[in-house]
Amino acid sequence: MKKPPLINFHDFHPALGDFRANVLAGLKAEQKHIAPKYFYDPLGSMLFDRICELPEYYLTRTEISLLKQYGYQIADSIGPDALLFELGSGSSTKIRLLLEAIQPKCYVPMDISRDHLFQSASLLAKDYPWLEVHAICVDYADPWNLPPGLKGKNRIAFFPGSSIGNLTSEEAVDLLRRIAQLVGNDGGLLIGVDLIKDIGVLEAAYNDQQKVTAAFNKNLLVRLNRELGANFQVDQFQHRAFYKRDLDRIEMHLVSDREQHISIDDELIHFKAGETIHTENSSKYSVVGFHSLALRAGFYPVKVWTDPDDLFSIHYLQTQSEVN
Ligand code: AVI
Repeated sequence: MKKPPLINFHDFHPALGDFRANVLAGLKAEQKHIAPKYFYDPLGSMLFDRICELPEYYLTRTEISLLKQYGYQIADSIGPDALLFELGSGSSTKIRLLLEAIQPKCYVPMDISRDHLFQSASLLAKDYPWLEVHAICVDYADPWNLPPGLKGKNRIAFFPGSSIGNLTSEEAVDLLRRIAQLVGNDGGLLIGVDLIKDIGVLEAAYNDQQKVTAAFNKNLLVRLNRELGANFQVDQFQHRAFYKRDLDRIEMHLVSDREQHISIDDELIHFKAGETIHTENSSKYSVVGFHSLALRAGFYPVKVWTDPDDLFSIHYLQTQSEVN
């Protein structure tokens, strides 16, 4: 007899046309830019997994140790039988550290990388047979909704990894507002946020010695060549990452070594020598700074966990309680 699928899969992957139009619009702007969500093709996702293991990239390591250390406190704040959904779930590694403690009714991983999502969600469903799993392939920057009829008492969003930092503060407030609407009254958000710290530590994390971050950044051009028929000569662009103190963020760019033209279909894009494509912002927050961002979106701080070196924070936030 044929076995039923382990997971329910909902596919809202954006069309290729959106990718092409967004990239072209970004490359025609005064400051050329491409959104960081486009890093995550299969090779980009793999490179990102390698970044997370680098000695200089303290974010993942520190967040994982906080989740391990405070898992039961986190579970206490959230309560049992939740409908738990995760934005940008990737390999779904971090949620595994919490599932036994939280005991949700249903887990909904969401990611833009379809194959990676399908594989990770299926593996997770196999390892946690008591858990109902609904995977959603979606760009969480687009409007989206949870499928109807999902089980769970209260709705809790999980957004680890400080991916909120890859959005501008306006985009971040917009997204938090949408999450607040989705979780509704008495809903919660468990979110990982990288903290402001010594510039040397921050810049090293985005300029690792093994040059994995450089490969991750440059893979964007490889992807444009393959998927959009662009003709970037990847070795003529260099990785640059630096901290902008006035904006409290790391910026990543790809710098053109020389004057050149590249084409995408019949569009010609001109680069001056030294001109850059801005590929990512990674904003850093103080605990208080993040609280005020969250409050603008309708989330109230409940608890925050940080490590002894104040490298990283995990916040639990809630929406307003229903008034009877
Ligand atoms: C996914 N995101 C939180 C990472 C970050 O640190 O901003 C992406 C990354 N870019 C370079 N290294 C890691």
